Amino acid sequence: MKALVLSGGAGTRLRPITHTSAKQLVPVANKAVLFYGLESIAEAGITDVGMIVGDTAEEIEEAVGDGARFGLKVTYIPQERPLGLAHAVLIARDYLGDDDFVMYLGDNFIVGGITGLVEEFRGNRPDAQILLTRVADPRAFGVAELDPSGQVIGLEEKPDQPKSDLALVGVYMFTPLIHEAVRAIEPSWRGELEITHAIQHLIDTRADVRSTVIKGYWKDTGNVGDMLEVNRTVLEAMERRIDGEVDDASETIGRVVLEEGARIVNSRVVGPVVIGSGTVVSNSYIGPFTSVAENCRITDSELEFSIVLRDSSIQGVGRIEASLIGRHVEVTPAPSVPSAHRLVLGDHSKVQITS
Ligand code: DAU
Repeated sequence: MKALVLSGGAGTRLRPITHTSAKQLVPVANKAVLFYGLESIAEAGITDVGMIVGDTAEEIEEAVGDGARFGLKVTYIPQERPLGLAHAVLIARDYLGDDDFVMYLGDNFIVGGITGLVEEFRGNRPDAQILLTRVADPRAFGVAELDPSGQVIGLEEKPDQPKSDLALVGVYMFTPLIHEAVRAIEPSWRGELEITHAIQHLIDTRADVRSTVIKGYWKDTGNVGDMLEVNRTVLEAMERRIDGEVDDASETIGRVVLEEGARIVNSRVVGPVVIGSGTVVSNSYIGPFTSVAENCRITDSELEFSIVLRDSSIQGVGRIEASLIGRHVEVTPAPSVPSAHRLVLGDHSKVQITS
């Protein structure tokens, strides 16, 4: 069995914070979403990965390399334009050969991995197996309609009037029968060859399409609350590991991951927390469910249930909670006169100020 990982698509700059132009590299607990996907593919016993790349190919290739550090053999498959998920299958035909494969959308996050699901597929070997999850707004997803016995009877891509709240999760398992289906369909109204339509084609031709409803699914929609929650879930499952330096005046309590080259000076860190290499925390408190990425400075401040991306500094500002702070950001106290907030905010920023 192989994996086809989709990390193409146009570079997007529509998020509240532009972590990166490749949405698959958005970090959760200081690690790219795509890396969790690659790890769960390796864990499921798959080693051959075809990676679809587009405009952001350079950034993806730099991050993933040949895949050896994940225990994978990654082959890059360039896609000239994002012409759809089924188009990605079409251009991967030679790579995939006659193997079964799991197709994994690189910007999707499945808590707990896919090992059980892959084993189930290997055991039963239906023509296709899809994953579904209940979502608040199904209109942003592919949506499944099930009959009373739980059999999938219809799939629609981003419907205005969804027939259920069961969204298609971006992990699909296929036998080679899917290659006929992707050749049989036409582009959708958005000009893309939709995998949803290819699976509908399988259903229409009476192929065996099964579904599993899962919990613990996340994808970045720009909702900061959701991002803090997925960060919390991942941090909660981490083991304590102190590879950086902690001075005698500091304490680290519970599940704290301190990467090599990070320093804690005269501070208190209460896990679960992850602190990236090169980051210095001094005279500060870092509270539970916080990720601070590489090369940050946290000085004379308190930070809890927050995400700070790399190369940022927070200095002398009291307490920060439930916040997402981007890269190369500086947070400092304002001069006391005049009494005014001074802000330099990027596109799509959201700020809540206590006046
Ligand atoms: O995330 C789950 C949803 O993914 C499903 O519910 C939908 O049924 C499915 O169509 C898909 O919808 P999106 O519109 O959210 O997909 P998006 O265009 O964001 O692409 C998903 C991933 O695949 C993303 O990492 C970029 C990559 N991609 C996308 C296209 C269209 C490619 O590599 N090539 C492409 O041509």
